[in-house]
Amino acid sequence: MAANALALQQFADIDEAEIETRIRAAREKLGERVVILGHHYQREEVFRHADISGDSLKLSRYAAQSKAEYIVFCGVHFMAEVADILSRPEQISILPDLAAGCSMADMANLAKVERAWRELNEVLGDADQAITPVTYINSAADLKAFCGRHGGIVCTSSNAKQVLNWSFAQREKVLFFPDQHLGRNTGYGMGIPLDEMVTWDFTQPMGGLTAEQIKQAKIILWKGFCSVHQMFQPQHIDAFRAKYPEGKVISHPECSFEVCQKSDYVGSTEYIVRTITAAESGSRWLVGTELNLVNRLAERFKAEGKHVHFMSPTICMCSTMFRINPQHLLWVLENLVEGKVVNQIKVPPEEARYARITLERMLEVSP
Ligand code: 13P
Ligand code: SF4
Repeated sequence: MAANALALQQFADIDEAEIETRIRAAREKLGERVVILGHHYQREEVFRHADISGDSLKLSRYAAQSKAEYIVFCGVHFMAEVADILSRPEQISILPDLAAGCSMADMANLAKVERAWRELNEVLGDADQAITPVTYINSAADLKAFCGRHGGIVCTSSNAKQVLNWSFAQREKVLFFPDQHLGRNTGYGMGIPLDEMVTWDFTQPMGGLTAEQIKQAKIILWKGFCSVHQMFQPQHIDAFRAKYPEGKVISHPECSFEVCQKSDYVGSTEYIVRTITAAESGSRWLVGTELNLVNRLAERFKAEGKHVHFMSPTICMCSTMFRINPQHLLWVLENLVEGKVVNQIKVPPEEARYARITLERMLEVSP
């Protein structure tokens, strides 16, 4: 590890143009042995090197099909874990900076979810008979494995509705973690009233709920959230509409219920890209998602006369996605050229086995 860190230091002082040239050269040498996957939130200097870009669902599908020896994931930790779980055993998943996590994913962990399950058991008799555990893909592999052991499933922001339909066909209730907003927005969109969705405060015994509240609930929502998407507020939408009454508003489902209710469209990052790509020239958009993606859309569609605005008046970026910089990308690629693997993401086999069950279930029910 220390040797790796030292090697990485050598990349800190190289100028941008040289980094760019060397990334391209290393890529060329590696040819089809490597595929670079880039999430839409990646900074431009990294994003432009992606062979495939997309949202979590599209990138996990790609990882499951890729034949490349090395999958370099320009995204965050859980994404590289999913690539490792879904790819063949001999393929290697790499995350250029191991510090690229997801603060929302960290809001749930196995100990807390197992405690919640035990407490729900006390109220409902047998939680395994009563509840389908659903984890958002933004979660650690051991939570996906937990869902695998308890008849549950994974979802992304693109397939949450199909996943919830599947879940309710198995059992009458859902425990949804870690993002309360995706769960609430999706459940409400399917016709579940707000008072049948309770919030599980994982810092409180019994989630801060009464036995009666748990018995009445259809969805139990983990009290997690995304620190980036919580910055968007209904008043930002009101101010935009007052200024541009003809403008359209599009938001990611990790935004609050109030923001999603005020939006014209709600969907994953890939859906946002697709919707604005298909929009008429001259249209104006307020977008509630991460800044790097919104800036890219604004730049890309300027020439077509489309106006793309960022929803928050303050800068809010995903700081962990931003950890992946061109230096780290170059470092992993040049090491691969030398035959060395750095920053491999390897999920323990037993955990991977159960997590894979839930991910494959998800892929089956996805549109
Ligand atoms: P998408 O699957 O919509 O790309 O979302 C991933 C994410 O982390 C959003 O914050
Ligand atoms: Fe996690 Fe939010 Fe960053 Fe997405 S934007 S990776 S949910 S912290």
